Amino acid sequence: MLSDPLQYPVALIAAAALFLIYTLTIIHRKISQYRFAREHNCQPVHVHVPKDPFLGLDTIWDNVWAAKNHIFLASGLGRFRRYGHTWRTRRLLTPVIVTREPQNVKTILSLKFKDYGLGNRIQTFGPLLGHGIFTTDGEHWAHSRAMIRPNFVKDQVAHLDIFEELMSDLLALIPTDGSAVDLQELFFGYTIDSATEFLFGHSVQSLKKRISGVQTDEKDFATAFNYAQEAIAWHTRVGPLRVFFRDPKAQESIKVCHDLVEQFVEKALKYRANYDEEKAGADGDKKQKYLFLQGLAEQTGDRRRIRDELMNVLLAGRDTTASLLSNMFFMLAKNPRIWSKLREEVASLEGRAPTYEQLRNLTYLKYCMNESLRLHPVVPSNARFALTDTVLPVGGGPDGKSPVFVPKDTIVSYSVYSMHRREDFYGPDAEEYRPERWADLRPGWEYLPFNGGPRICVGQQYALTEAAYVTVRLAQQFSVLESRDPGPWEESLTLTLCSRNGARVSLRH
Ligand code: HEM
Repeated sequence: MLSDPLQYPVALIAAAALFLIYTLTIIHRKISQYRFAREHNCQPVHVHVPKDPFLGLDTIWDNVWAAKNHIFLASGLGRFRRYGHTWRTRRLLTPVIVTREPQNVKTILSLKFKDYGLGNRIQTFGPLLGHGIFTTDGEHWAHSRAMIRPNFVKDQVAHLDIFEELMSDLLALIPTDGSAVDLQELFFGYTIDSATEFLFGHSVQSLKKRISGVQTDEKDFATAFNYAQEAIAWHTRVGPLRVFFRDPKAQESIKVCHDLVEQFVEKALKYRANYDEEKAGADGDKKQKYLFLQGLAEQTGDRRRIRDELMNVLLAGRDTTASLLSNMFFMLAKNPRIWSKLREEVASLEGRAPTYEQLRNLTYLKYCMNESLRLHPVVPSNARFALTDTVLPVGGGPDGKSPVFVPKDTIVSYSVYSMHRREDFYGPDAEEYRPERWADLRPGWEYLPFNGGPRICVGQQYALTEAAYVTVRLAQQFSVLESRDPGPWEESLTLTLCSRNGARVSLRH
């Protein structure tokens, strides 16, 4: 309380001084930003979404509506066609630059990597993933990455026994009389089985349990994992407005996911309890197989940290490769000519299981996978937050060719999906699934299914090997692959992109 009348002027002066300092700071910041932008020849991004009258609420609403109607990606593509390759909007008070320029993407992810971070990803992804490789920057991220990388050395990726063993489970679940089957469901089972074996040393054996008719925890897990990811995607779209939406089902789903991972946390802690550092050092030359779960347990006994790291890697390992396989088989089943051509190439193996080197030499198979990842990139859009005032090389000025000033705290969002459909890079038939186009394509940053720069996907070779292996073995087994889905491919977009109606097909010998 200000009881002494003399205190009033003092308080007023203090308030005025504070206001003045604040105003001067803002003016100073604006002047240095202006100078910085001028030094770099920046021009404003001309196109601001024309509606967008208030805090970007229109864009948020449009995105939510499009996602609900399964046309989020197509609607984003439409915007690029209307407004140009780079445009801007807001998410409440935060400025957003949206781009599908390869040069800009290269700048964010590689050339000026240090100028950007993941921003508030932890707030949206955190409830499911906690602090792990997908949600952290800086030292935590570098440490997570260092722990998982040894799992992906060539020797381990080229070891194909797990894939072959799982193939017999997969084949046991595919009817051979031509009746319809949803391959997508089976692929998700296949990849969680292989990822848990490859990274944790123990497969959850979801396909085996399915064969024996056991009601599996993994089935609950699959449903819960999908729902939890959907909730994250929704929270990302609405940004800070997420505080107004409570979703108890998302919380239940997250719990189911954490419960499944808990069995691996126990294994990690048990391994840690018996781990003898000195003995491990002495056995070092024996070159044992590296398991992420063990590497992690050697570094930490923190239960929560272990769970978070495992959860992150499970997301990376399960959904991505299964989505690639499902999206690709959806398209292959619609194109019998491509299936026949693929089978012709695979015939060179004379029915034998392929080696790692043989897989790498199957050119047409590679084209089919590249084309699937181009048309339906499994991680179709992404964003980074400017940690400092910085510059994008293009997108400014009336022709969109000048550099653009990016103030600190701007979100730069990039769409791989829309970049992969640019006709100036891929031709007028960019929306078609045509593997042959890869015979002449040598793309740079305009093709980016696995990200680039320091955060490039660590599992790329493993994923491509797994998808190639499964495709070859199915092509050797079945001469006929027909779609049982009358409609076109539709998006099912959570954190990753797969087919909304699965991959319903009929296969015959
Ligand atoms: C077709 C399959 C796959 C695709 C298209 C893919 C794509 C990607 C993309 C785009 C990112 C960057 C995400 C971001 O920065 O926000 C990424 C990161 C990552 N991927 Fe993959 N991925 C695939 C399979 C896998 C597999 C099978 C694993 C592991 C078993 C894996 C492990 C990771 C990890 C750990 C990261 C985080 C890297 C980091 O931030 O340093 N990925 N992946």
